[in-house]
Amino acid sequence: MDSVATSPAQRWALCSLLCLCLFYAGLLLGSRPFFPTPRPWEHFSRAQKLLAPSAPRPAPPPPPPAAAYHHDHDVVAPPPDAGSRDLGREEQEDDDEGLALGSAPAPAPAWEDGRECDLLDGSWVHDPAAGYPLYQAAECPFLSDQVTCRRNGRPDAAYEQWRWQPRGCSARFRGKEALEQCRNRRLVFVGDSLNRNMWESLACIIYTALPDRSRTRIEDVSSEYRIFRALDYNCSVEFFWSPFLVKLETKQDQTKALKLDQLPTMLKQVIGADVLVFNTGHWWTHTGKLRAWDHLERNGMLVEMEGEEAFNRALRTWARWVDHNIHPTRTRVFFRSISPEHKSANWCYNQSTPITNETIIPWFPKSLISIVERNIQSMKTPATYLNITHLSELRIDAHPSVYTTNRDGKPLSTEQRQQPIIYADCSHWCLPGLPDTWNVLLLASLMRYSSNVH
Ligand SMILES: *[C@@H]1O[C@H](CO)[C@@H](O)[C@H](O)[C@H]1NC(C)=O
Ligand SMILES: *[C@@H]1O[C@H](CO)[C@@H](O)[C@H](O)[C@H]1NC(C)=O
Ligand SMILES: *[C@@H]1O[C@H](CO)[C@@H](O)[C@H](O)[C@H]1NC(C)=O
Ligand SMILES: *[C@@H]1O[C@H](CO)[C@@H](O)[C@H](O)[C@H]1NC(C)=O
Repeated sequence: MDSVATSPAQRWALCSLLCLCLFYAGLLLGSRPFFPTPRPWEHFSRAQKLLAPSAPRPAPPPPPPAAAYHHDHDVVAPPPDAGSRDLGREEQEDDDEGLALGSAPAPAPAWEDGRECDLLDGSWVHDPAAGYPLYQAAECPFLSDQVTCRRNGRPDAAYEQWRWQPRGCSARFRGKEALEQCRNRRLVFVGDSLNRNMWESLACIIYTALPDRSRTRIEDVSSEYRIFRALDYNCSVEFFWSPFLVKLETKQDQTKALKLDQLPTMLKQVIGADVLVFNTGHWWTHTGKLRAWDHLERNGMLVEMEGEEAFNRALRTWARWVDHNIHPTRTRVFFRSISPEHKSANWCYNQSTPITNETIIPWFPKSLISIVERNIQSMKTPATYLNITHLSELRIDAHPSVYTTNRDGKPLSTEQRQQPIIYADCSHWCLPGLPDTWNVLLLASLMRYSSNVH
């Protein structure tokens, strides 16, 4: 996915910008009085299924469940900003940025046999012998209840045993290799609860590969920032919650402003990481009561604009932030593409096998996807676009559905499970499960980069 000939710096920058945007979006949605105060960590990814498909397929699609994420998230003050530099302020409009195009999102290479191939072009193979799942939920103590589907009573297990088979090359990766990729490195995810899903997956893959699991730590730096450390390997896998990437600020009158020209000050802490994986998207599609912000701001002033334009501005701010703050020879930047939901016509409820590409019904607005791809391509810093949307679209079977937790953080009761329209989670992914494959592809891409360098 990064085979386009660009400098590592260019690839790196792209990803960073995108992640920042997501971060802020998350903050906006927070602190809805409707929900009880969640535990500080769990609330990151709680999806409330207020709106859900009105019928399982093949019934006609109900009105789109515009905003199923309903995070009760209190905005916390950013840590003291030592340098007091405005991290994300967008600079003058300069449209002369074409001189150094970032890498176009491009096919990922094979890392195992040295041949180049598109890791994202392939198919799912049910292969119980291939070593999936990479770990068991019971082995990973910090895995959140929300996504431990089998622990929550999911009866079928085949969804854990599908292997992504790229056409013409292989993408196999074991925990030991993941651990080695993390040695003396900081791998940081920035974004919404779907990036948290991916963070949990990688932390579990690495944790369960450790010879001595007691030499690990989970640090909750703040309610938005969590770190997994493998001490013997000097490895950390970190997650910054920032669903819009740009800054969501609570004003004195308690209204929420989404600042399209700034990134959260806290994001300074990710500068210097070895790997940054950003995402944003879902929170921008929320409307009505579920929308996280009350108003948009730019240059300190209220502005009104269409959602798409706001999204584009936010991504530009993110891209510039990456270009100005991320050193491309030190940090590799990824942007993970939209994680598909399976609601409406292609409903995840009661699904236990992947679908074929003919039955995919694209769900996320194409226009927003193009905005992401365009912004990544116009960055100076190279960023790798981890284009997992399509392969994930096929995995209608891999969501928690009713084997998740309710808003109190408890597994759904039998009664609640019988109301999938209200409770089924068709946004996040079971773990172990699909995000493990996202990480395999991430690591494969990293590995190829290392081998280029040495
Ligand atoms: C991402 O993948 C989708 C589906 O495979 C493809 O249509 C799209 O062009 C890809 N995007 C980029 C920028 O490569
Ligand atoms: C530990 O990892 C960090 C990167 O996360 C690196 O900068 C540092 O040099 C490493 N320490 C040692 C002793 O290798
Ligand atoms: C779920 O799937 C099973 C087997 O495919 C089927 O027998 C059952 O009726 C389905 N339940 C619902 C509520 O759709
Ligand atoms: C479905 O996948 C096959 C094999 O990967 C491919 O040849 C075909 O073009 C795809 N069809 C669609 C509609 O994407």
